[in-house]
Amino acid sequence: MGGQVQPQTLFTPEFYRDPYPVYAAIRNNDAVHWDEEHQLWVLTRYTDVAAALADSRLVRGAGEVTVETDDPLRRVLSRMMLFSEPPRHSRLRALANRAFTPRRVENMRARIKAIVDELIEEIGGRSDVDVIADLAYPLPVIVISEMLSLPRVDIGRFKSWSDDVIAFSAGATDIEARARNSVVALLEYFKELVARLRRSPDGTIMSALVEAEADGSRLDEGELMANAILLLMNGHETTTDTIGNGMLALIQHQDQLDKLRARPELIGSAVEELMRYDGAVQLRGVRAAQELAIGNKLIGAGQTVFMVLGAANHDEAQFTEPDSLEIERSPNRHLEFGQGIHFCLGAALARAESQIAINSLIARFPRLELSGDRLEWKSIPVFRGLRALTVYV
Ligand code: HEM
Repeated sequence: MGGQVQPQTLFTPEFYRDPYPVYAAIRNNDAVHWDEEHQLWVLTRYTDVAAALADSRLVRGAGEVTVETDDPLRRVLSRMMLFSEPPRHSRLRALANRAFTPRRVENMRARIKAIVDELIEEIGGRSDVDVIADLAYPLPVIVISEMLSLPRVDIGRFKSWSDDVIAFSAGATDIEARARNSVVALLEYFKELVARLRRSPDGTIMSALVEAEADGSRLDEGELMANAILLLMNGHETTTDTIGNGMLALIQHQDQLDKLRARPELIGSAVEELMRYDGAVQLRGVRAAQELAIGNKLIGAGQTVFMVLGAANHDEAQFTEPDSLEIERSPNRHLEFGQGIHFCLGAALARAESQIAINSLIARFPRLELSGDRLEWKSIPVFRGLRALTVYV
């Protein structure tokens, strides 16, 4: 591919429809790319993204500084492990690891299956289904609310609060005022929840975090609230998009869909491949705490670096025929869950939900074809997902 990468190619409506040719053009022309329009570095090679994810000179949020501000929105975000670096990150992550154990996730599998069955049952005899609205959207929020001990009747409220905060944290600055109100509402809501769980622990992850807080110096109340909100936030939108993007990819590759239908035991490697092929998290933005070299470029202290997971996952230096979907692909060391100390805390849960949802849909509906001719993608750089996915069943 020749020619210069035009600055206007990133984050345009065409880009959101299909970002992969743009990533490939950048990777082939100028793999460590300075984007003049957005004033940031764009990393597109697998090796660069993998190294950057685990590089302590590239920091998230305020880094190791605790932001002392009266602004509740910034206070909460700065106390989330996702926006912290060691030593605070290490302390928060160790506590979360103890609450969010593989065993707790494993124990959720039967419950996830029951929720999926319930949602599919509600579809009834309809001949067209919106995979997002009918399954991919409600499933993860029901699951994470049960894990956090949040009552199902309140889902509508805390889901919309959480959506505002996540949109702001992903760069949608135009909703700052709304996100601030939503964070205040979430804090109020979690305060009551924490008080209830202090009185009567119930064995959920949230309850385990409350016990860690009661222990004194290990987790203060601000950190407890912030990281509970983080679990709620991260616990659903990405999984919704993974199921949606994954079902779309399968429907567009009927040979792979038929293979999975015939051999449902392939679901483990199929979900990894679907995540690699069209991931829900396209990039992670970090800031250079000091000057550093990546490839043959010098990144200045304070500059922003976008580590583009979606580009790394389509790098032909790492994956044979990266643009083809192979549900049995092996090895498949995609970067969708990150790498290093910030590796996704919820990876096992996200995998379990996506595997169960996709296999259950395929088993229940012998015919799955796209209905409607237009797909509408969300237009934010960080997340890739469909607003709706209507199919004939
Ligand atoms: C398929 C769905 C998901 C994807 C693609 C995904 C992706 C990621 C990525 C790329 C990171 C690392 C970010 C970084 O390097 O800074 C991350 C971190 C994190 N994820 Fe996920 N995630 C998913 C689902 C979940 C779920 C279901 C939960 C919780 C229930 C969760 C909780 C977290 C948390 C708490 C972190 C921060 C970890 C830390 O900073 O140490 N994620 N996720």
